[in-house]
Amino acid sequence: MRNSNTLLLLLGIISTSPTHSDPAGVVGQIRIAPAVELRPPKTAGNAPNVNQGFVGFGIEMSSFAEYGGKSLLARLSCALLTEIPPGINRPNNFSNNLMSAISTRTRAPVHIRVGGTSMDNTIFNTSSSALTATGDQDTCHLHTNVTIGGPWLPAFKSFPVGTRFTVQLPLARNHPSNRVKFARACIAAMPSKTLQLDANEIGNEPDLYPASPKPPCGPPDRLNGYGPNDYAAEWIAAAADIGAQVGALNGQKAWFQAMTLSSGVDQKIWNITANWNAINNDGFPKTVSQHYYQANACGNLQDELMNHSKTVSMLETSFGTTASFLRNHEIPFVLGEVGSALWPNRSCTPNLQLYGSLGGALWTADMMLHTMAMGIERISMQQGTNFNFSAWQPITTLFAPKAVHGNWYGHVFAADFFWV
Ligand SMILES: *[C@@H]1O[C@H](CO)[C@@H](O)[C@H](O)[C@H]1NC(C)=O
Ligand SMILES: *[C@@H]1O[C@H](CO)[C@@H](O)[C@H](O)[C@H]1NC(C)=O
Ligand SMILES: *[C@@H]1O[C@H](CO)[C@@H](O)[C@H](O)[C@H]1NC(C)=O
Ligand SMILES: *[C@@H]1O[C@H](CO)[C@@H](O)[C@H](O)[C@H]1NC(C)=O
Ligand SMILES: *[C@@H]1O[C@H](CO)[C@@H](O)[C@H](O)[C@H]1NC(C)=O
Ligand SMILES: *[C@@H]1O[C@H](CO)[C@@H](O)[C@H](O)[C@H]1NC(C)=O
Ligand SMILES: *[C@@H]1O[C@H](CO)[C@@H](O)[C@H](O)[C@H]1NC(C)=O
Repeated sequence: MRNSNTLLLLLGIISTSPTHSDPAGVVGQIRIAPAVELRPPKTAGNAPNVNQGFVGFGIEMSSFAEYGGKSLLARLSCALLTEIPPGINRPNNFSNNLMSAISTRTRAPVHIRVGGTSMDNTIFNTSSSALTATGDQDTCHLHTNVTIGGPWLPAFKSFPVGTRFTVQLPLARNHPSNRVKFARACIAAMPSKTLQLDANEIGNEPDLYPASPKPPCGPPDRLNGYGPNDYAAEWIAAAADIGAQVGALNGQKAWFQAMTLSSGVDQKIWNITANWNAINNDGFPKTVSQHYYQANACGNLQDELMNHSKTVSMLETSFGTTASFLRNHEIPFVLGEVGSALWPNRSCTPNLQLYGSLGGALWTADMMLHTMAMGIERISMQQGTNFNFSAWQPITTLFAPKAVHGNWYGHVFAADFFWV
């Protein structure tokens, strides 16, 4: 517990109180929190090991080349860039410096999951430009159909040496032979090929397939009534196909990330424990993933993020049973997309305090420490250009300047806490 000083420092900051009402112009008084004495047990007991790659990131497909660089015109037209993306053979050093700030602490390469809703609606065409939208982005956002072209791929080369990747492959838009070509191309684009590939992830948030997208963005991805057994059958067929046809995988079966359920999924229907045998039938899952966005962007910081009991209770309710079940089966459980707050109700004004603030950093640290203790393998904190919840904005756009956001520091804290 060598980092208890950092913890005390943070507690001290929280208890700093404004003194505007103090008499006689006394300003700047700081109330120091009482010291917290930590008495960790002398032995680890049955505590889970923490993976060195625990503090990871996820990057939305549509923003991958901006975070990584090496790709001109990487962006969909609506990005309204004021800065040219890093460009051919020019990595985004800003991103790389931030990644290195984590990896130098954990002494392990950073892990990036590339994917999200945007990836699930893609098709790959190597002779096309980096990204071409083939739908109405202003209306459909991440659900817009997109063609990924060859110039998108070099972003895999621009992250620090040894960076590990989980690469999502599309399933919502289901073109098996195109998916195989894309899987091959992504591995070929990584400098150390499969040494950098943690897993192929097939599809994204399948529990939402029967309900989204809504017109005019297309019919829902699957028919009403689509459930875990339908998904397991499709997922296994896709894994078998990729395994057989992507030579670089060398016939090794357990090289896939499964489930990728949405935050707030109905666990009575999409229950990882109950459906484990179905998805694991042929032995393809290497890791299992579920997504987590804690807050509603219409809410306030105190109620949504700054309540430790609430954070613990939400994490335990959402993941407690699954985490211990998978641990008993020795299958790593990943929170494959995580963010502080989502903004599904567009009629409210999002509360920006839920994002780039000290409160956001404290929540990040709190959530990471608790999920570490639950035995969760990794957090892939989701990043996207112009996303308010991103830990950093990788380039300057008309919407937001290149910047490190407040919640970034929670990652540094979590990396320090266990490894420095
Ligand atoms: C980015 O980093 C690379 C490798 O460290 C270095 O060669 C290059 O000069 C840097 N570019 C800029 C614009 O700082
Ligand atoms: C791939 O993109 C090129 C260039 O835009 C286009 O000419 C070609 O028709 C596309 N191929 C497919 C199969 O869509
Ligand atoms: C996206 O592509 C799929 C087929 O690949 C099609 O069914 C759907 O209608 C398209 N969506 C839009 C909004 O064009
Ligand atoms: C999920 O399934 C397990 C095993 O069948 C069961 O114990 C648990 O109660 C289920 N969870 C929910 C939320 O239905
Ligand atoms: C914090 O969250 C817990 C659990 O959700 C709740 O019971 C409690 O009232 C909350 N505390 C405050 C101060 O809002
Ligand atoms: C959305 O937010 C507005 C403003 O806060 C609120 O009045 C409305 O009830 C919310 N709608 C839903 C569906 O949550
Ligand atoms: C966050 O939200 C505000 C208000 O909606 C916006 O002005 C800002 O550019 C957003 N994005 C980032 C990356 O800060």
